[in-house]
Amino acid sequence: MGQMDSVVGSSPLLEAENLSKRFGGVHALKGVSLTLLPSEVLALAGDNGAGKSTLIKIISGVHHADGGSLRYAGKEMKFDNPHQARDCGIETIYQDLALADNLDVGANVFLGREPVRRIFGLPMVDRRLMREEAEKTLRALDIHIHRLSSPIGSLSGGQRQSVAIGRAIHWKARVLIMDEPTAALGVPEQRKVMELIANLKGSGVGIIFISHNLIDIFQVSDRIMVLRRGSKVGEVRTSETNPDEIVRLMVGG
Ligand SMILES: Nc1ncnc2c1ncn2[C@@H]1O[C@H](COP(=O)(O)OP(=O)(O)O)[C@@H](O)[C@H]1O
Ligand SMILES: [Mg+2]
Repeated sequence: MGQMDSVVGSSPLLEAENLSKRFGGVHALKGVSLTLLPSEVLALAGDNGAGKSTLIKIISGVHHADGGSLRYAGKEMKFDNPHQARDCGIETIYQDLALADNLDVGANVFLGREPVRRIFGLPMVDRRLMREEAEKTLRALDIHIHRLSSPIGSLSGGQRQSVAIGRAIHWKARVLIMDEPTAALGVPEQRKVMELIANLKGSGVGIIFISHNLIDIFQVSDRIMVLRRGSKVGEVRTSETNPDEIVRLMVGG
């Protein structure tokens, strides 16, 4: 990675213009534009079916847009699949986290990108390296998981979320997209995730944060974009709005 290190100042990390997407008869996204700066948290708000997930799935290479364009670090991009987006530094954490429950923390941080070591000429996955590197990353993020060798499935929701965030950071995400990251968590764990987001912001990562929870949105975001039925119906600085206004935008009228 590291190809983005030359990006200076606050030129946008992401510039999406006029993105559109249809699924059969459903017009899921109707010409939505978006800009994301380094060290910025952009919250996406909107009712179920508003198009939030569709928008971020286009940015992260899951879906192809039917129309519009996407610039990443100033360059026109078209990701064919999520791997390409990840390789460029766009990491997405979905609600289901895409963790492998039967594997330990290290293996999950390296999932799909396992380091290989040759033993007598035979390629072997380097488990110790994975565990050590995962531990370093988590420590740097002030994430404490005592049983790094236990399967991820045995950890709490918040710890799993932390591992998913740790994985993104380990791979040097410049853009971190989180789709409902706190939906399944208890309150203390939600708070921890909010703290992590605040820390990441300080390190220059640009974050797109989807949530139903307006308290979370107001706590962590710099800007709020509201989608309704596939269209952008509002974009406001968080410091210049309030939950009532956001709800009004979400429901319309
Ligand atoms: N893979 C898909 N196939 C068909 N319809 C979809 C698909 N993904 C989303 N949609 C539809 O697109 C609209 C927007 O969905 P989505 O982006 O998931 O909204 P949100 O994340 O805001 O709840 C909805 O009407 C949804 O049913
Ligand atoms: Mg969604």
